[in-house]
Amino acid sequence: MKHKTLTPGFDMLDRIHLGDCMEALRMMPDASVDLVVSSPPYNIGKEYETKRELEHYLGEQRQVLKECYRVLKPTGSIFWQVGSFADKGTLVPLDVKFFPIFEDLGMLPRNRIVWVRQHGLHATKKFSARHETILWFTKGDQYVFDLDAIRVPQKWQNKKAHRGENKGELTCNPDGKNPGDVWVFQNVKHNHEEQTIHPAQFPEGLIARILLATVPVGGVAFDPYMGTGTVAVVAKDHGRHYCGAELEPRYHSVALRRLSGSPDENGVFPNLKTLRAYVERTGLPIERFRFDVQIGKVASDGTKAKIYPEEYHAEQLVERLQYEADAFEAKIGGREVPVAKDLNGKATKPLREVQPPKPLPLFDDPS
Ligand SMILES: C[S@@+](CC[C@H](N)C(=O)[O-])C[C@H]1O[C@@H](n2cnc3c(N)ncnc32)[C@H](O)[C@@H]1O
Repeated sequence: MKHKTLTPGFDMLDRIHLGDCMEALRMMPDASVDLVVSSPPYNIGKEYETKRELEHYLGEQRQVLKECYRVLKPTGSIFWQVGSFADKGTLVPLDVKFFPIFEDLGMLPRNRIVWVRQHGLHATKKFSARHETILWFTKGDQYVFDLDAIRVPQKWQNKKAHRGENKGELTCNPDGKNPGDVWVFQNVKHNHEEQTIHPAQFPEGLIARILLATVPVGGVAFDPYMGTGTVAVVAKDHGRHYCGAELEPRYHSVALRRLSGSPDENGVFPNLKTLRAYVERTGLPIERFRFDVQIGKVASDGTKAKIYPEEYHAEQLVERLQYEADAFEAKIGGREVPVAKDLNGKATKPLREVQPPKPLPLFDDPS
């Protein structure tokens, strides 16, 4: 296959190709991007029997990833975000299937990030799925990872040593800590100011963490399945270049509108975040504008937005999971089940009386 030669401003730079990602990839020179990050589609069609269907899908993904590998710089990274493939009650975590594909390309695994999803379908015959994963592979051993750019506050930020030769000195890095490999960025659903018409958008914060750690200023991030352009928007906001592809014209046009930051001819924005930023920039009255997925009459301004950092959600989640484990252990131990500190995040008292638990028999009573 003939590829264009490397130029600093190759044709795809700061462009989202409307069409198949393989077409976009063919326009890209070897070793031209610092980061490939994506959540590939896995709406597997019906034309094959299920197992073959999955194999066929993985075969196509192998081709796309081979091309992604080609366009990646030697210091570059691929972050591939996937969930599970569910069929007739069974569940296949897709990262398990992708791992050997990356290994076959000769790439080196760095992390398997667990992205916790606090909401979702309630399963009845297995545990409800509450996480997806992001596989991180690098092309080589010399790779970009700027930890300082993505540190998060320490829990005990100002704690000082009480004794020993470091007495009086801070016990942890005052610039913050490594965020770890369990992430709790909120799903972009209704009530989220980034929500566009796309059903499976990346949160901008999640992409910012990946991009700031792995793409130097002026570098390039590529998303072969760009959707409504989250990777492009975040790259642009942080002084990086982007490129990508999107097959669906509706999503492609939303991506371009997000990037432009201006209203369309009817005064409509692709999401609330873009609208708020425009109003703040121009000083124009917010009532003059709407956004695609708006439900209420008037968009609320940014000062009314409840936006919490990812660490807040992480702490809430850990607290909740700890509570659920404690409550379960109390129940099976015949003790009083503790009341959640903050039911539904709002209530100050339990929604209904907690019944004293009946002690559970440890063994079936044959009588
Ligand atoms: C999971 S979504 C990505 C959403 C994106 N991360 C965002 O934040 O908006 C996958 C996208 O891939 C697009 N797509 C599917 N097949 C494609 C292909 N062969 N080439 C390019 N885009 C494709 C779909 O239309 C869909 O918007």
